Amino acid sequence: MADRLQNKVALITGSGSKYGIGRAAAILFALEGAKVVVADINEEASKSVVKEIRDAGGTAIQIPTDVTQVSQVKRMVNGTVRTFGRIDILANTAANYRDMSIVKMQEKDFHEIIDVCLNGTFYCTKYAVAHMINIAKSEANEGKPVTCRKIIHFTSGAGLRGNPGQANYSAAKAGIIGLTKSNAKEFARYNITVNAISPFALTPLTDLMPNDLKETFGHRVPLGRWGDPEKDIAPVALFLASKDSNYITGQVIIASGGLDI
Ligand SMILES: NC(=O)c1ccc[n+]([C@@H]2O[C@H](COP(=O)([O-])OP(=O)(O)OC[C@H]3O[C@@H](n4cnc5c(N)ncnc54)[C@H](O)[C@@H]3O)[C@@H](O)[C@H]2O)c1
Repeated sequence: MADRLQNKVALITGSGSKYGIGRAAAILFALEGAKVVVADINEEASKSVVKEIRDAGGTAIQIPTDVTQVSQVKRMVNGTVRTFGRIDILANTAANYRDMSIVKMQEKDFHEIIDVCLNGTFYCTKYAVAHMINIAKSEANEGKPVTCRKIIHFTSGAGLRGNPGQANYSAAKAGIIGLTKSNAKEFARYNITVNAISPFALTPLTDLMPNDLKETFGHRVPLGRWGDPEKDIAPVALFLASKDSNYITGQVIIASGGLDI
């Protein structure tokens, strides 16, 4: 075990994934000493992630959460604070796709993806940051240095450059970039940094793509391969969660092997 996140409390949505980015971040954060809350709609996969962390000697609990349901988001945030006392790091990883041409896209196909990706990120941030701000104010009132706390959003190349067939997902992920910059300016006075990662990696989400499209994308990456959630993306999240990035806020870090150059 290493100690870059020793005694930190990390709440990670979308971390109950079989081999995705949230899972990789949860495991890496725990190996670096964080107490981790695995919050995902997929209870079975979340259970496995918690077991994996505990088997490796780390600390984790599961709080089943659908990020589109405000009551569940409040329960997730309150459960984290009740169990571990505070929230130092929030990573908003939960997302879903429903790709189709805009002509075929029904209103519900648009709204449901906006709901998971954009509204879910808003709800989790709104309720978690209230606790972060309260603790920052208490530290300041007691004359202590205010700890740098961290929020990490997940955007996408779809949000940066648009993708055909992804009007819903692209709009949500572009919205997350605006949320990142607005949140960064609003929370800076409490020493809370807010950054976004735009990743590119083989995960259950990207495995929904047809194989020929996956291959085409892989060939377009200047570094010549798809990213790996554990080796290529979770370390970027660790950097943004650690004190090494305390002077970085409002940025989109693109970890896509050069795909977005
Ligand atoms: N993999 C990539 O190449 C790529 C590219 C761009 C952006 N992203 C972003 O990275 C993040 C992680 O995605 P991933 O690729 O690891 O996929 P993933 O499928 O492994 O992770 C998404 C997780 O979100 C969970 N989830 C879905 N709906 C939910 C809800 N309503 N409430 C709570 N949890 C819910 C899923 O159960 C899953 O565990 C996402 O925000 C995604 O948009 C990924």
